[in-house]
Amino acid sequence: MKVIVTNSYDESCKVVAEMIRDVVNQKPACKLGLATGGTPVPIYKKLIEMNKAGEVDFSQVHTVNLDEYCGIPGTHDQSYRYFMDTNLFNHINIDKANTYVAQGMGDFEANARELEAKVREGGVADLQLLGIGNNGHIAFNEASDHLVAVAHIETLTESTITANARFFEKKEDVPTKAITMGMGDILAAKCVVLVATGLAKVPAIKGLIMDDVITTQNPSTMLKMHENAIVVIDKELANAVGYKG
Ligand code: GLP
Repeated sequence: MKVIVTNSYDESCKVVAEMIRDVVNQKPACKLGLATGGTPVPIYKKLIEMNKAGEVDFSQVHTVNLDEYCGIPGTHDQSYRYFMDTNLFNHINIDKANTYVAQGMGDFEANARELEAKVREGGVADLQLLGIGNNGHIAFNEASDHLVAVAHIETLTESTITANARFFEKKEDVPTKAITMGMGDILAAKCVVLVATGLAKVPAIKGLIMDDVITTQNPSTMLKMHENAIVVIDKELANAVGYKG
């Protein structure tokens, strides 16, 4: 695992957008694993700018998203399909038919199996983008005494529901279940890039970069087993966890 410390969150987002741009430029028909949450929004903004400036062409790119809430349709403004359309896909020259976000409505188990198939369809992701939850969760793989390898339905923890309540009118509106890629799906990507910022992430990032322990209580620590995992944090977060390089 490699750790990159930048001067600011904005610089982190620039660095990661450039990594994604380079993967697409090297392999125009590549597959990207994409993430939601607040953290990647400026990364997507930079990719939109790069696309408009002719620096990167998404016309042949395929994407698969990490997860989706159960019980809300893709038209709901808090669904991850809606998030991806409005924060990225609507503004770049990608073919929407080549973008996949799991379906949040209908038969959840069948939707999870469809996500599992999409993870491997046409090969695994060339790059998987990740954020991290305050409790170390990755996609919606929650801290627990065990983790699941494949796509599945997860019951969200109180900590995740509280953290994500800021996007909803009230906490009771946050779905309690989600469809998520499993840890094996995420680790299957050729390169995994995790971006984190903010002091709420200190405990999770401490567990990820300050020792060699792998624990299901901090799912992000599984990345320590990946040959090509990159963690991008700003110096404020690095200092707060005591990371010296
Ligand atoms: C959600 C998503 C995760 C994301 C996490 C952190 O739970 N399922 O993929 O990493 O939120 O989000 P934020 O970047 O807003 O802190």
